[in-house]
Amino acid sequence: MLVILRRDDEEIGRQAAQLIASAVRKKPALALGLATGGTMVGVYKHLVGLHKQGSLDFSRVTTFNLDEYLGLPAAHPRSFHHFMRENFFAHVNVDSRNIHIPDGTIHGNYDQYCTSYEAAIRKAGGIDLQLLGIGRNGHIGFNEPTSSIGSRTRLKVLSRETMDDNSKFFAPGEESPRCAITMGIGTILEARKILLLATGEAKSAAVAKSIEGPITSAVSASALQLHADVTFIIDDAAASQLSQRDFYHRVLEMTALLTPDRLS
Ligand code: PGA
Repeated sequence: MLVILRRDDEEIGRQAAQLIASAVRKKPALALGLATGGTMVGVYKHLVGLHKQGSLDFSRVTTFNLDEYLGLPAAHPRSFHHFMRENFFAHVNVDSRNIHIPDGTIHGNYDQYCTSYEAAIRKAGGIDLQLLGIGRNGHIGFNEPTSSIGSRTRLKVLSRETMDDNSKFFAPGEESPRCAITMGIGTILEARKILLLATGEAKSAAVAKSIEGPITSAVSASALQLHADVTFIIDDAAASQLSQRDFYHRVLEMTALLTPDRLS
């Protein structure tokens, strides 16, 4: 696990976009796992900037988003389909046939739908690089606390904490969704490389438990300790409860010296 410590949101977005861009340049037909949420806005802004400068081509990239709210059609302003279109897809050249986001409008036959989402990932050769945020409760995707570490794409009931965090994005009186379709922790762990981003003090406890705590289904992101190629990119506030910050800084310095391609 590599822990990249950066000053703020802006630096996190730039660093993550740089790593994603270099993965696309190395493998133009990259299968890219994408995430939504406030933390990702800066990443997409920088990726769009690189594309507009002409230095990044997404025409052969295939994307798979982590999750979508159940009950929200793609056109709903709070759907993750809408978030992705506004922040990324409307501004870059990903072929629409290569975009996969779980369908929030399915009724019944959830298992069958989720199995087909997993099959599409397999058909694309598996996810090369998965981008993740983290919830205050340690969730990745919508894998809420007590999600099985081996879980696959499925219908998931959202925790009260997540519903509260989401309610600010919905109009007063509008109920925020209670369920979502999400990739499972087992699905995420099969990605070849994982990039988790976290900013802000509110994430600091979840970040510390994920990196330095025991592996437990009580903190879904702690399962990432089982993966061989995970990079956390976190700002000072999100890193504030880590006890080994000096060590991570030293590792970073040595990484820049010995294997700089891991950072660019
Ligand atoms: P945020 O969401 O980036 O909006 O904080 C992260 C998450 O819940 O995964």
